[in-house]
Amino acid sequence: MNETLNDWLRQAAEERWAVPHFNISNFVQLKGVLAACMEAHTPVMIGTSEGEADFIGFRMARHWIDAAEEETGLAVFLNADHFHSFEKVAAALDAGYDSALIDLSKKRVEDNSAETRRVVDHAHAKDRAISIEGELGYLVTESSKIYKEAVEIPPESLTDPDAARAFVETTGVDRFAPAVGNLHGIAANMPQLDFERIAAIRAAVPANVALVLHGGSGIPDDQMRRAIELGFNNIHVSTEIRVAYTDALRAALAAMPDETTPYKFYKPVVEAVRIKAMEKLQLFGSINRI
Ligand code: G3H
Ligand code: ZN
Repeated sequence: MNETLNDWLRQAAEERWAVPHFNISNFVQLKGVLAACMEAHTPVMIGTSEGEADFIGFRMARHWIDAAEEETGLAVFLNADHFHSFEKVAAALDAGYDSALIDLSKKRVEDNSAETRRVVDHAHAKDRAISIEGELGYLVTESSKIYKEAVEIPPESLTDPDAARAFVETTGVDRFAPAVGNLHGIAANMPQLDFERIAAIRAAVPANVALVLHGGSGIPDDQMRRAIELGFNNIHVSTEIRVAYTDALRAALAAMPDETTPYKFYKPVVEAVRIKAMEKLQLFGSINRI
């Protein structure tokens, strides 16, 4: 019987599927994602970036997730996503977050490792069930942007498998996010994941450490399936959810120019988010796990 996020991640690793992670900025997105998850009987991670968390409020996010778990009976985990400092992660954990990504990937490796270790020690001393993710190698773009131009990935941004092994050993992270040709946002050119590198990183990193694929938007389905086969057991999606939300909201407001009742014009928006999330759940193989 799984209780913690790490339990679910271990099961997903053994069975070669991926625990989904969706970012939300508001309750309407959460509602759409949860509607898909209820239909799919899947565990799910709900992520808030620093900006998203500041907008929602840490405690508000915690209460939404508590209510979501109670009402759906699903395993729902709240993640502080791409938090950039020890202090900010500590504040999220104090507010009851289940998990955090301490993202110091743009810092020097030594500084990234030392500070990530500090976060892991702090979190695990607080509660061993808290799951901490670290990142080595960096993504060159940002979530929510649809790039009109092609994006070239500089080779020095990619994660070296030996460096990954050392980082994971030094920091003691529960989850590890590498850069393997993935991007935040959606570029004009098709992403090309580096499968050799993924296999080498999976072999270098202990099996009980989850491999997290960021930038899940815009990755073609065949590449996503291969990435999961090779060992990614946790996948983050934000931009495609934001686009589904925004497109549907623009269309709804245009179709109902006189409507002022939010729950009416948000109805098709929730549905658009549900459909997009469901596509991803099917692709990640997380359906009917609960
Ligand atoms: O942490 C969030 C993600 O990595 C989302 O990436 O916006 O490309 O889906 P995405
Ligand atoms: Zn990310």
